[in-house]
Amino acid sequence: MAKTQLLLLALVSVVPSILAQSPIFGQCVPSTATTTATTTVKTTSSTSTTKTTSTTSTTKTTSSTSTTTTVSTGGTACTVTAIAQVASATASCTAIVLSNLAVPTSTTLDLSKLKTGTTVTFAGKTTFAYTDWDSDLIQIGGQDITIQGATGSVIDGNGQAWWDGQGSNGGIDKPDHFIVLKTTGKSILQNLHIQNWPVHCFEITSASGTTITGLTLDNSAGNAPNAASGGLAAAHNSDGFDVSGSTNIVITDTTVINQDDCVAVTSGTNITVSNMVCDGGHGLSIGSIGGKSKNDVANVLFTNSVVKNSENGARIKTNSGTTGTVTNIEWSNIQVSNISIYGIDIQQDYLNGGPTGTPTNGVTITGITMSNITGTAASSAKNYYILCGSGSCSDFTFENVAITGGKADSCNFTPTSGNFQCI
Ligand SMILES: *[C@@H]1O[C@H](CO)[C@@H](O)[C@H](O)[C@H]1NC(C)=O
Ligand SMILES: *[C@@H]1O[C@H](CO)[C@@H](O)[C@H](O)[C@H]1NC(C)=O
Ligand SMILES: *[C@@H]1O[C@H](CO)[C@@H](O)[C@H](O)[C@H]1NC(C)=O
Repeated sequence: MAKTQLLLLALVSVVPSILAQSPIFGQCVPSTATTTATTTVKTTSSTSTTKTTSTTSTTKTTSSTSTTTTVSTGGTACTVTAIAQVASATASCTAIVLSNLAVPTSTTLDLSKLKTGTTVTFAGKTTFAYTDWDSDLIQIGGQDITIQGATGSVIDGNGQAWWDGQGSNGGIDKPDHFIVLKTTGKSILQNLHIQNWPVHCFEITSASGTTITGLTLDNSAGNAPNAASGGLAAAHNSDGFDVSGSTNIVITDTTVINQDDCVAVTSGTNITVSNMVCDGGHGLSIGSIGGKSKNDVANVLFTNSVVKNSENGARIKTNSGTTGTVTNIEWSNIQVSNISIYGIDIQQDYLNGGPTGTPTNGVTITGITMSNITGTAASSAKNYYILCGSGSCSDFTFENVAITGGKADSCNFTPTSGNFQCI
């Protein structure tokens, strides 16, 4: 762990006591914050750590608590307890703690223009009031950004206020994505607990160089029907991570409990998804591809993951009558169980969100590897379903693929290498 991270974790750990002591800590007050930082440095580390995290010449202090010390490069630490403080904090601070923030109606939590190198810590419970709109609720952007959750913190999207069983297909207006992420450079999101998002959770778009690790996305409360959902699960289209137009993204060590794709990559390159637990949704997906502003996806690896209680394990879906490219995609070491539709699914016939049964070939799918995909499907499911357009699939390697329990597999394209049998 980098020294900077150690320092920041230590900072998080002292925040609750400071909050209890200081009546003015709820504001963006640099002097208060710098005192906090000084205390932290002393209790947790040495002079060298302090020097590491600063470029100023005022950071050599190692003794008295009465000496103020600037910790963050070119900025100060600020704690935000009300939405009105967010704009000034993001404009001037590089260590921001959002403490029990209640985001009011008709408001987006705007962290889209963070200063380079900023750390934002969600502490306590972050909540969102209902708004009759389709705008996103949290926007995050900037270079070399760290976004993290303090121990025990929760980001609660108040999805219950929007859920009506229809997701983005109809019903009332809903925030299309809960969190839009456009971070670049060397950014990290870590240790966030997110629950009850309205429709899709993350949109990772025009992002690069970003690692997401140690998140829990829990939309299990949306499995039960509610008064508006007509007997269906109240939450719908609740994708965990939608990735588009992004490069060099890692999503790892994360649990997603939801009702749609665990991860869906629709465009971009160099995306690695590993050590996931996907529960209740539609699996680890590419697509749908075609008919969007960007329609090329390449170099995606899904590995070392569990997909359970889900419609699909691994899938690619492309849209009817559109163009695009799907190149060099690998799933390896995926354990599936209780799959209700397709264990492995590659289909080129989507139209208006549903399959037509008639594939088209404008999106090419090439360089697909399925390796060590094992587990069980429900008896009503198919273990494997491949429906390629004429000539649009090539270079598939399926090795050690063994999903059992389903019936009537159907493949109109045979992988070009490996020991796979579609029966
Ligand atoms: C993808 O990763 C490869 C290998 O690490 C690298 O050479 C290439 O530049 C990356 N592509 C992009 C668009 O960053
Ligand atoms: C199988 O998954 C479905 C969701 O697709 C779930 O409703 C059901 O409870 C699961 N069955 C078991 C035995 O876990
Ligand atoms: C196959 O994948 C499972 C996880 O699904 C993993 O535990 C196992 O080690 C893998 N086997 C090989 C030979 O890589």
